[in-house]
Amino acid sequence: MSELRIRAKELDGADELAAKRVEFVLDSASDGASGSAGVYLDGNSLGALPAAVPARVADVVGRQWGELRIRSWTESGWWTAPERIGDRIAPLVGAAAGQIVVGDSTSVNVFKAVVGAVRLTRLADPGRDEIVVDATTFPTDGYIAESAARMTGCTLRPVTPDQVPGVLGERTAAVLLNHVDYRSGRLHDLPALTAAVHAAGARVVWDLCHSAGALPVDLDGHGVDLAVGCTYKYLNGGPGSPAYLYVREELQDRFDSPLPGWNSHAEPFGMRPDYEPAPGALRGRVGTPDILSMLALEAALDVWDGVSVGQVRAKSLALTDFFLECVTAYVPDGRVACLTPLAHAERGSQIALRCPDAGDVMRRLIERGVVGDFRHPDVLRFGFTPLYLGFADVERAARVLAEVLAADGD
Ligand SMILES: Cc1ncc(COP(=O)(O)O)c(C=O)c1O
Repeated sequence: MSELRIRAKELDGADELAAKRVEFVLDSASDGASGSAGVYLDGNSLGALPAAVPARVADVVGRQWGELRIRSWTESGWWTAPERIGDRIAPLVGAAAGQIVVGDSTSVNVFKAVVGAVRLTRLADPGRDEIVVDATTFPTDGYIAESAARMTGCTLRPVTPDQVPGVLGERTAAVLLNHVDYRSGRLHDLPALTAAVHAAGARVVWDLCHSAGALPVDLDGHGVDLAVGCTYKYLNGGPGSPAYLYVREELQDRFDSPLPGWNSHAEPFGMRPDYEPAPGALRGRVGTPDILSMLALEAALDVWDGVSVGQVRAKSLALTDFFLECVTAYVPDGRVACLTPLAHAERGSQIALRCPDAGDVMRRLIERGVVGDFRHPDVLRFGFTPLYLGFADVERAARVLAEVLAADGD
């Protein structure tokens, strides 16, 4: 057995999160093309299924909907699910209760948050007319920021995150940033950038899609104004599970959502023609929540019982370090280039490797049971979810990658 395989075994033996793996539905050792278990490295796109979810969803459908029917809005807690589940997510992103509501997609929440941020800034300074956005952002954030700018009469200023401090000024109304870059896996400096935006008198919106559930965020501690994130990656909520919106407590009474719906009304069943926003984070709600997806997410969050984000972060860094070590040992020099920063302080929970034939390489990796994904034009993305991945998985993934690349070079 190679030295790295022995190390992997030792690291798995000492892993305090190892027992969490059985709480997920993953390939058994007899699955996979080569007779060994597949390695799922795409949890940064769609988290694996927590084993408790199917029975809970079956209960929601069969009993809550099938038998209780409309009574479930109160008796099964459907009506209050957005804020109740928001409070379950809150500790994972360093937020006290009462600041997060779950619902809608990330895209929709980006819209609420960016327009809301511009409106908040303009309460104190109506002349501000610039929205700064991460030029390297996931496309949806860029499209929505552009539309929000047009709607609010702002100019959009796309810049890379490191350029943000240099472009902030008295015209800045809002800044939309990603905590972790979806393509490179780079972790941006949320505390410093938040402080810079505040020093310029503007409001910041953070997209936490690639950090929530993978590393500490500490929204309250860093005074973040607004944040959004999805729940289907490291929170394992399922395909299309609802996203969330964080509005810092002290801003909630001034948060003016551009999507006021009856669910965020102070008196939703008053059916009044005039809109009066509900107090607190509830004003981030819009319409009828997607109960089936939302309650699947609620069940999925049970896997966090007894786990701290600090433990997850420590293991995530150990996994990505070990993956890089195995790639360096196995893959011929110069065949791939690492896009993800080596410094821990700048690394999320994924490793992005650049190689010219990345699409074809990923297709062959997937055929051999190593599932990551490909991002146009030349990026292999590997996501590391510490709750269900082990070091032997990581070693095997790097070994199969080297074999695929070697075959490719023949
Ligand atoms: C950083 C980021 N923002 C937004 C989105 C899009 O979210 P949704 O499709 O849930 O609206 C994604 C999806 O992967 C993402 O990675």
